[in-house]
Amino acid sequence: MVLSTELAQMKERLPEWLEASRALTAEGKTAAYIPELAKAPKEALGIHILNMNGESVSAGDCGLVFTMQSISKVFTLLLALMDNGEEVVFAKVGKEPTGDDFNSMLKLELVEPGIPFNPLINAGAIVISSLIHGATPEQKSERILRFFCELSGNETLGYNLDVCRSESATAHRNRSLAYFLKDNGVLDDDVEEVLDVYFHHCSVEVTCADLARMGLVLACGGKDPVTQKQLVPRRYVQIAKTFMMTCGMYNASGEFAIAAGLPAKSGVAGGIMTMVPGRLGIGVVGPALNSKGNSVAGVHLIETLSREFDWSMF
Ligand code: DON
Repeated sequence: MVLSTELAQMKERLPEWLEASRALTAEGKTAAYIPELAKAPKEALGIHILNMNGESVSAGDCGLVFTMQSISKVFTLLLALMDNGEEVVFAKVGKEPTGDDFNSMLKLELVEPGIPFNPLINAGAIVISSLIHGATPEQKSERILRFFCELSGNETLGYNLDVCRSESATAHRNRSLAYFLKDNGVLDDDVEEVLDVYFHHCSVEVTCADLARMGLVLACGGKDPVTQKQLVPRRYVQIAKTFMMTCGMYNASGEFAIAAGLPAKSGVAGGIMTMVPGRLGIGVVGPALNSKGNSVAGVHLIETLSREFDWSMF
């Protein structure tokens, strides 16, 4: 297959840019608060870029399998919106960035009405997990996994149960957030059941290629350009992409918006899903994180590509 000019240029320079970014992994640390994630290869860095014609380029450790962690929150938000509509969802979570860490409790008590500031911080994503339709936690998790499979075009996605159990065993902070939300009347369901759904979707395993495909669906307004199927209503994708731009990289979202100018979502396993709207889906993995919880080398690589190809939306 002859690659489009943009992808052909990328293919040529990508290995060199990737190695330059990989050098930054020395400055980062794998996530230690989930013990199983601390075992990830710290120097790894991989990328996969997919366009609307199904053409792709990849470089580095793009075969690495890792858990979605917070990247899953974008898609549970979409499913919660599809299940409940905007009014119900935004009665329970806000629409504003926090400027705090992703697992912070601070504003829950400080600012009325005591609902999480947005659906991408941990408190917000826990509330979103409770809004997914299903009679039992197992049914909710099954619906989430099916949705992820459909969006990634990969029927074989599954959980890393070691990571799931490791997170559950050490999730003291998330448990406190959830009990606080329950006490505030924001969570209706049983706390442990909600957390079970949350830990499962965080532990879904993907590769950079899966993230690129999921990102491409968002880049195309919810329509899978490969199958031409509208998988998510365009309005909900618009909402999700706006959250990615304003809160997707937590309290480094402003910095990333200035440097790369693309909607993006990171996870503590080192994944980043981003996109060039209307054109490309991009999946990156680099388990060494910076102090904000984002892949240190992954952020650098995306910023380099955006600069080189003038991808900023602004
Ligand atoms: O709840 C947690 O802490 C993790 N399962 C997800 C956090 C995360 O990925 C934050 N990302 N940068």
